[in-house]
Amino acid sequence: MRILIFGAGALGSVVGALLSKRHEVHLVVRPGNALAIKESGLRIEGLVDGTFAVETHVDLEDVPQPEIIFVTVKAYDTEAALEALARMARKARLVISLQNGLTNLDQFRKALPDKAVMGATSMGATLIGPGRVLYAGKGDTVFGHLAHNSELSKEAADLFDQAGFVARSDANVEGELWMKGIINASINPLTAILKWQNGEILSSEGVLGISQLACSEAAAVAQAIGVRLPAGDPFAKVREVMRATALNRSSMLQDLERGKRTEIDEITGEIVRRAGERGISVPVNRNLWMLVRGLERRGD
Ligand code: PAF
Repeated sequence: MRILIFGAGALGSVVGALLSKRHEVHLVVRPGNALAIKESGLRIEGLVDGTFAVETHVDLEDVPQPEIIFVTVKAYDTEAALEALARMARKARLVISLQNGLTNLDQFRKALPDKAVMGATSMGATLIGPGRVLYAGKGDTVFGHLAHNSELSKEAADLFDQAGFVARSDANVEGELWMKGIINASINPLTAILKWQNGEILSSEGVLGISQLACSEAAAVAQAIGVRLPAGDPFAKVREVMRATALNRSSMLQDLERGKRTEIDEITGEIVRRAGERGISVPVNRNLWMLVRGLERRGD
């Protein structure tokens, strides 16, 4: 099967690499990465060790029509990605979002209400050089089809399963995406501010306390707007992801280190915005949002 990974950063590259064992995989990547992968293959280290043969492209126009498209761009690029992919997406069987952020769902609902499968993953990966990725964060992935076509979300989960990832499908897409957003809001800003690996939060009672407050504020917002979170204590899930991805540097920390814009507006900023609409006070998330924007040298 032909699969396109559009906007393959660290995580998209790991997904593409493992899928390439059974499928024809095309990555749309930045020019430096494309060149390195063309010359020496895609190198994955950490939980998996190997060099993988994938096709790379800088320009979407050069990609032959795929059956399945994974969208792995940053959340602030989703709208542009959906526009660029519109023609190809119409002919594809499945378009799968595998991104961070609480703003993607509405954008996919608008653009591809019958075709999209939303994925929420707690895996973590780091770009360590052109064409080289460290896959250090174990985690599971949940897929849900926007129009509740359980066969299609199961197909996405099976694809992942066969590639060696842990995956399942679930009809409660919104709840799973919010849970993932809550996990990101409770880990990413703190690791970005402190320049810590995810697991380091567990060893500081004070910082873990801030993470817990960010988590309970975000969970209260989810509840207030009618999102049904998956069963269980949300902060137990946050701690579980910290443990499983202990050695990973969060995507937000990686973005700051590379001088790139982070997804803080689409994660913590969105929680604050939704809280504002309901008159709910979320001081911890508001402060974390402003601190990360400050580190990006953007104002409010
Ligand atoms: O953004 C990230 O880095 C990841 O979503 C996660 C799960 C927090 C692991 O680092």
